[in-house]
Amino acid sequence: MPSSRQRIYMQEVATRDGFQNEAQFIETEDKIRVIDALSACGFAKIEVTSFTSPKAIPALRDAEEVMHRITRNPGVEYTVLVPNVRGAERALSCGIDEANLVMSVSETHNRSNLRMTREQSFAQLTQVVSAISGSHVAVNISLSTSFGCPMEGDIDEDEVMRWLDRFAGLGVARATLCDTTGMAYPSQVRAMAARARRLHPEMVFTLHFHNTRSMAQANTLAAISAGIDRFDASLGGIGGCPYAPGASGNACTEDMVHMLELEGYDTGIDLPGLLEVSALLPGLIGHDVPSQLLKAGTRSRLHPAPAYAADIGR
Ligand code: COA
Ligand code: ZN
Repeated sequence: MPSSRQRIYMQEVATRDGFQNEAQFIETEDKIRVIDALSACGFAKIEVTSFTSPKAIPALRDAEEVMHRITRNPGVEYTVLVPNVRGAERALSCGIDEANLVMSVSETHNRSNLRMTREQSFAQLTQVVSAISGSHVAVNISLSTSFGCPMEGDIDEDEVMRWLDRFAGLGVARATLCDTTGMAYPSQVRAMAARARRLHPEMVFTLHFHNTRSMAQANTLAAISAGIDRFDASLGGIGGCPYAPGASGNACTEDMVHMLELEGYDTGIDLPGLLEVSALLPGLIGHDVPSQLLKAGTRSRLHPAPAYAADIGR
């Protein structure tokens, strides 16, 4: 029987946004094992890796091998981060479904993270879009620091809309509003998401939150109330941005799925299966992960009452 619950599309980013920040190199075999396990969990999309310079991001220097060796589930879109034309060519040779392009709405953050002005980034990404056009590969633009910059502070909503307009003008039909350093708050998210959808009803929007200040879950519900139905999240809550002071913790996939399912949404995710994959992470990355659910279990996990409880009142 078809579900009458509202569908929320979950997009996993741990193997790109998470692994790129790990000091310890995750073996190619292990990356493939994690991605293949995630492919069976019900995600709409998985951001597999990134085709950046291996000098800039050595953690993902095995991008081609990973893309070629994963077992692709036809129900899942496989996306990769592409910074420039060289990256686009490498990614296209691996049969990707989508290229994810990134720039910051904040001039200062763009210079710090990508070492270019925003205009230089836009010019480069324009070339990437044209290198990809003509293939069947979709293009998504991720706008970093859409909800605030750790160096500039508040970002004007008009600026975010202006960059959306410019990418829409290139024919880009998918966009992600990223809260790169966890500065977003619910009423801001609601307003930004509603305006973006109103101005670009043809665009498919994703929201990408970080839990730096424990607001990712609240921001998710606020975004849904403004009509958003796609979210990035990271297994175990790993990842962050190496170029953003104080940034930590992507929104945690299992924590988000647990909340959304309780709230009556259909995420399509097999939560017990997902928790099994998440439990592999500490062993692979060599440290604990921020996931709350991995520590506490789901709310249906019951604990034995202490023996004395039965005797009280006798
Ligand atoms: N794939 C492989 N190699 C690449 C590459 C790509 N996509 N882009 C550049 N390179 C190589 C060049 O061949 C060159 O190699 P060489 O030194 O052996 O000649 C070197 O990287 C520098 O090339 P250049 O064109 O000067 O690029 P850059 O140094 O300005 O780097 C980026 C540009 C964007 C590719 C690089 O800064 C980068 O990948 N940054 C990571 C950004 C990121 O992913 N941040 C986190 C996500 S928010
Ligand atoms: Zn992130």
